[in-house]
Amino acid sequence: MNPAHAQPHRLDIWLEEQPKALRHVVMTIAGACERIGEAAGQGALAGLHGLAESDNSQGEAQKKLDVFADEVLSQALAGCPHVAGWASEEHPDPTRSEDFGVHGDYLVVFDPLDGSSNIEANISVGTIFSILPHPFRGTPVGDAGFMQPAKQQVAAGYVLYGPSTVMVLTCRNGVQAFTLDRRSGHWLLTRSAIQVPATTREFAINTSNQRFWDKPVQRYVAECVAGETGPRRQDFNMRWVASMVAEVHRILTRGGVFMYPRDNKEPRKPGRLRLMYEAAPMALLMQQAGARAVTGTQELLEIVPDTLHQRVPVILGSADEIARIV
Ligand code: F6P
Ligand code: MN
Repeated sequence: MNPAHAQPHRLDIWLEEQPKALRHVVMTIAGACERIGEAAGQGALAGLHGLAESDNSQGEAQKKLDVFADEVLSQALAGCPHVAGWASEEHPDPTRSEDFGVHGDYLVVFDPLDGSSNIEANISVGTIFSILPHPFRGTPVGDAGFMQPAKQQVAAGYVLYGPSTVMVLTCRNGVQAFTLDRRSGHWLLTRSAIQVPATTREFAINTSNQRFWDKPVQRYVAECVAGETGPRRQDFNMRWVASMVAEVHRILTRGGVFMYPRDNKEPRKPGRLRLMYEAAPMALLMQQAGARAVTGTQELLEIVPDTLHQRVPVILGSADEIARIV
């Protein structure tokens, strides 16, 4: 027996049930994230704390680790024969693979370092990724090829750089978590068939934006805060890490609701989070874990993007609570 097969819980072996090309893409992302995790774990010693001397595609100041993570992922994807192109939070336009832009099977869209305001405080950050089919394989992929609804994702997930480095992945076959064994360098299956409990007593929202929220969100949060004395007749707890990857990971661990709803603080922006590389991959994970992700009026998986960096309101988590909010 091949010694590798003695450990069926390794990511590369677990992926053997998937098409070979997809397996290659996921392992490419995993390899890049291992490097990003190493750099994040080195903290101040990696020399990657603080601001880079640049802004990203949306005029936001980039951190050095944002730039590093983006470069590591982009380089890795450029070498993967199954990736026709990729797009990142850090660049205004998608990139067509120089070598594989015609025949590559997939497109990858990613947020290289989510929650990067947390880096210097040594609080969890993460990478979010979404894998889409190359819609017209055999022709050079163009920008329009990326504008696919979230429900067309072939696979999606994130890597959380916390006390441990964990990849949470769905290939539309449920949700599994693989923890990076830093001694062997292998990603080992540590949770499978993850399900989010339908009920919860925990919610996450940035309450400093309260006065800007729409009425239904105001009311939902007010009822949670009223606790035992309000219509819910039970106390709720609240969390806010300001790292969506960490919030979603907590919800996949013990249930909960995460909201970055529409607000009228900046009427130009319909929400804070970006559809294609933040909301959409998390929405697929939620669906696959028996939970839900909505804008408030629409299922996130149904949205057809207009632009690569489009923002959307995000309300996700335990199914019964999402139904109540909607
Ligand atoms: O990328 C956006 C993000 O950093 C999320 O990870 C996080 O949930 C949110 O922004 C934090 O927003 P705020 O700074 O308003 O708390
Ligand atoms: Mn982000």
